[in-house]
Amino acid sequence: MIKAIVYTSNTGYTAEYARILGEKTSLPVYSLDKAVKALPKDEEIIYLGWLMAAFVKGLPQALKHFSVKIVCGVCMGESGSQLDSVRKNNGIPEEIPVFTLQGGFDMKKLKQPYKFMMKLMAKHLKNQISQKPTPNEEDKKILNMLDRGASYVTETALTPIIEAMK
Ligand SMILES: Cc1cc2nc3c(=O)[nH]c(=O)nc-3n(C[C@H](O)[C@H](O)[C@H](O)COP(=O)(O)O)c2cc1C
Repeated sequence: MIKAIVYTSNTGYTAEYARILGEKTSLPVYSLDKAVKALPKDEEIIYLGWLMAAFVKGLPQALKHFSVKIVCGVCMGESGSQLDSVRKNNGIPEEIPVFTLQGGFDMKKLKQPYKFMMKLMAKHLKNQISQKPTPNEEDKKILNMLDRGASYVTETALTPIIEAMK
């Protein structure tokens, strides 16, 4: 049985999902560094980490210390996107369910070297979108995040995860 929610967040969107999940499930919420000190080794947890180039930040440490029952990658992309690449890139075994959640993005919140990396990525993404005859809703959200900074954290995105935790 999952006993705690553990997360790693850089700019706050993953922390926000962890907080909401804690509220909805009444489970305690810890950042990964606090969890390592506060929880027993091999405690059963759900782990949420922000996605960086399809790697779930902090997941190797979380897997080392805890019995991770569910992994959630918080990303710029749509909730439910990138599932195969996230599983493959992070070597997540089949028995652990993987979810992705759309978080948010704000260039102003980033420090180096992430800012530099994302300036390059933003150029590439905007170029890709500008080549489409009509950008779809997801493209518009990406442009909004890149140009103005935006959060797409929603309570409803957590519904399938709460179901999987039961
Ligand atoms: C260096 C860097 C790489 C990223 N790579 C990806 C990615 O591969 N896929 C994606 O959807 N989002 C990517 N993102 C966006 C973040 O995952 C997204 O902004 C997330 O909501 C950040 O969560 P946080 O506020 O908890 O740090 C990247 C962001 C940064 C700064």
